[in-house]
Amino acid sequence: MALRLAKDGAHIAIVDVEDENARAVADEVRKLGRKSITFNADVTNRDDVYAAIDHAEKSLGGFDVMINNAGIAQVQPIADVTPDEVEQILKVNVQGVLWGIQAAAKKFQERKHKGKIINAASVAGHDGFAMLGVYSATKFAVRALTQVAAQEYASDGITVNAYCPGIVGTDMWEEIDQRFADLTGAAVGATYKKYVEGIALGRAQTPEDVAAFVSFLAGPDSDYMTGQSSIIDGGLVYR
Ligand SMILES: NC(=O)c1ccc[n+]([C@@H]2O[C@H](COP(=O)([O-])OP(=O)(O)OC[C@H]3O[C@@H](n4cnc5c(N)ncnc54)[C@H](O)[C@@H]3O)[C@@H](O)[C@H]2O)c1
Repeated sequence: MALRLAKDGAHIAIVDVEDENARAVADEVRKLGRKSITFNADVTNRDDVYAAIDHAEKSLGGFDVMINNAGIAQVQPIADVTPDEVEQILKVNVQGVLWGIQAAAKKFQERKHKGKIINAASVAGHDGFAMLGVYSATKFAVRALTQVAAQEYASDGITVNAYCPGIVGTDMWEEIDQRFADLTGAAVGATYKKYVEGIALGRAQTPEDVAAFVSFLAGPDSDYMTGQSSIIDGGLVYR
């Protein structure tokens, strides 16, 4: 997404709890001729999120689009979910998005100009997936926050939408696949393969597929769209 938006002409602030990947991506953005900075923040910490946005604005000279992408997965049958696990995933996937919406909207209001807030939901925010119960619940919650924020900030010229990917071959899916293997005895790789076989277009989603849609949400062609959590999954969940 950072690289795609840089190609679209944006300067990019990359915020993550992990520095190494963020710095590597920032280097790639700079090679594309755009400014890029990194900022270490934990999205569960509200102050961190506000600080990240202040830093982005000061370093890059503006602030126009916020992408609340950070999220974690959790593969656990409902019978075995523990309070600590629920608390952790709610903090990252729900509170992280909430603080991101709140802080970004406040900055847009201060700057007195319109802005775009884009949240990471999932096909699991439209259908509950077995063994991903609490994860699915967090993504349903992101859809709710997206709908409400769209209504509350519309008069400020701020749009709020979400992208709902399907099966993207990232670190997250490696972790999900491994957890299914540990819990069910499935071979490593089998769960990922099973899900990909259910995709009508016949292949896993790439980060570039997601980025292309986020580019649309970040750009002027989506100006009349708000409050939507749109599925982009190659044909897996139909709404
Ligand atoms: N991979 C998929 O198939 C898929 C499908 C649908 C939705 N999504 C969603 O897309 C988003 C990105 O997923 P991904 O597959 O790239 O995941 P990933 O695990 O590959 O990357 C997630 C990134 O978020 C960062 N992060 C995690 N917790 C954080 C925190 N507390 N504060 C700041 N940064 C934090 C991680 O360091 C990492 O860089 C997530 O919200 C995920 O739920 C992914």
